[in-house]
Amino acid sequence: MNAFLSKKLKNKELPSYFALLFLVLISFSASSQLDGKALFKQNCASCHHPAKNLTGPLLQGAKAKWEAAGDDIYAWVKNPQAQYDAGVKSALAINYMVGGMPGQAVNNEEIDAILKYVDEWTAPVSVAGPTDVPVGPTNESNNTWLMWLIIGGILSMLIVALWGVRKQLYYAVRERNQGEEIDEDEESVAKEVKGWMSKNLKLVSVLGFILTCTLAYYGAEELYKVGLVPENYNPEQPIAFNHSIHAGTNEIDCQYCHNSAAKSKSAGIPTVNVCMNCHKGIQEGTDEKGTREIAKIHAAAGYDVEKRAYTGKTEPVKWVKVHNMPDHVYFNHAQHVTVGKIECENCHGDVKTYTTGKVSGTETINNLKLEGKKIVKLTKPLLTMGWCIECHNTAEVSTADSKYYDDIHERLKSDKELYKSVMEDGKVKVKELGGWECSKCHY
Ligand code: HEC
Ligand code: HEC
Ligand code: HEC
Ligand code: HEC
Ligand code: HEC
Ligand code: HEC
Repeated sequence: MNAFLSKKLKNKELPSYFALLFLVLISFSASSQLDGKALFKQNCASCHHPAKNLTGPLLQGAKAKWEAAGDDIYAWVKNPQAQYDAGVKSALAINYMVGGMPGQAVNNEEIDAILKYVDEWTAPVSVAGPTDVPVGPTNESNNTWLMWLIIGGILSMLIVALWGVRKQLYYAVRERNQGEEIDEDEESVAKEVKGWMSKNLKLVSVLGFILTCTLAYYGAEELYKVGLVPENYNPEQPIAFNHSIHAGTNEIDCQYCHNSAAKSKSAGIPTVNVCMNCHKGIQEGTDEKGTREIAKIHAAAGYDVEKRAYTGKTEPVKWVKVHNMPDHVYFNHAQHVTVGKIECENCHGDVKTYTTGKVSGTETINNLKLEGKKIVKLTKPLLTMGWCIECHNTAEVSTADSKYYDDIHERLKSDKELYKSVMEDGKVKVKELGGWECSKCHY
């Protein structure tokens, strides 16, 4: 019996303990990834708000309502039309924008997670003002880190405990069988681990692989945050300027502040004088913190609020540049905004909802629903060469009433083959006018 115990615990069982632990670990992390908030933002937030009517009706309480009526809300989300066709009571009762909701590619667990998030949603109490679903990086991923830290801690405690039990048993066994030969290996834990690893190479490499992937994934996520990867780069600014308050709530036109976007290469960041046009009068923010930030404008402009006079002691506001092209790239706003008639949203996202100036994400831009504004489906991260190239490959040049393009058409017609290939789809793409030529974008 004793011999059996000691042998059993020695080497053969250890790998299975580890395998079991990792299975538990993996299934735990997989199940906790059903993040209702993220799913909602990905799939539904373009039309729905938890507590406000947008394109779609508010969703809070919808689940309870459907369940009370004995109807199947899952079937609705996956295929609304079918519910109308079947004359389901709850569907007919919505009558908000019939036919306005396309079927959603989500499964029941995901729907549960989404509706749970929606039902538990409360308005954020923060300086963010009227922003709905908070946009941009939050400290969500801090929680993920914490989760992994805890899991790691538990795991190592379990390993140590397992080892302890094993040793205890070993000594107990040895005490009983005094005089029996001592297994040399037992003396050195390091030796034992090494021996175990070489005996279980396959398992060790699988575990190593999983560990490496996990580290790489979270490492990459961290890089996004510090801006080495441009997407969602969101540095701290000398004055906490909030786009959602200015361009959103107060509907100030983008070009009131970025007034060179339509006529020159750069869009420009407004000088403190532009801020003073309003903030000479508007001295209070939406809360105390906002008021303190506005005081920084007064300090920068050298304005004494008490005396209502400029003191002449100004200090420049050192805004941190968020979008930054390398020196070898030529990008021109006027070419895109005025000639190409591309809306800011196509490249910067729905800035009206942003609380800070940040680089928008590809996903965010693809999910925007902006009526009548040209949206190009993107797959490449913003500010990379692939991004420019991809849009130039799909974006049409607006050729309406432009003598410039009439001339080009005339010239193209002299080469029948070329003209045919360009006009094949009845559209002129940026690429076809040279938007893929290196020298157009590179100095
Ligand atoms: C393209 C816009 C759009 C998207 C995306 C969208 N919905 Fe809708 N949704 C609507 C519209 C419009 C209605 C109202 C339909 C009607 O009046 O028949 C609606 C209605 C609903 C209702 C019924 C509400 C009620 O009071 O009975 C639910 C539930 C719902 N949506 C859930 C979702 C979920 C969950 C998602 C994401 C997985 C989603 N929707 C994505 C547009 C959308
Ligand atoms: C009241 C003035 C004001 C208005 C209106 C305004 N902005 Fe800004 N914007 C700023 C200031 C100040 C900054 C620099 C601080 C920051 O990055 O948050 C900025 C930064 C930005 C940036 C990032 C700049 C960089 O450094 O790369 C973008 C992009 C941008 N704004 C786009 C827009 C768009 C699009 C609109 C219209 C929807 C808009 N802004 C409306 C003042 C304004
Ligand atoms: C075709 C894509 C595109 C469109 C459309 C566009 N931008 Fe930009 N924007 C960029 C790029 C790329 C940069 C970075 C430029 C650089 O670093 O040289 C940038 C930079 C900026 C900046 C930082 C300051 C600067 O000029 O470098 C602001 C502010 C800005 N854009 C505002 C706007 C506003 C406002 C609009 C709409 C009127 C707009 N942009 C439309 C791509 C675009
Ligand atoms: C066209 C008018 C206008 C211009 C120009 C303007 N602001 Fe504002 N700003 C407002 C209004 C309106 C509010 C909201 C005040 C409120 O609701 O209490 C505001 C609020 C603020 C706040 C407080 C935000 C908060 O959280 O309460 C700050 C900080 C601010 N502005 C910074 C700036 C800066 C920096 C500039 C120049 C780049 C600028 N503003 C230009 C109109 C303007
Ligand atoms: C959202 C789509 C879009 C994105 C992203 C975009 N462009 Fe463009 N670009 C256009 C359109 C449309 C035109 C054509 C404008 C016109 O009619 O001349 C254009 C024209 C140009 C031209 C002039 C081409 C010519 O033949 O004269 C240059 C240079 C250019 N873009 C550079 C860039 C660079 C650099 C980037 C990336 C940093 C970029 N673009 C990103 C849509 C885009
Ligand atoms: C539509 C605009 C556009 C065109 C056309 C274009 N590029 Fe680029 N290129 C860019 C932008 C923007 C960057 C900077 C993006 C970055 O750093 O990720 C870039 C970066 C580069 C880099 C540096 C890569 C790096 O990792 O820093 C090289 C090399 C390059 N381009 C070569 C070319 C060559 C060769 C061509 C012609 C076949 C070309 N590009 C055509 C926009 C363009």
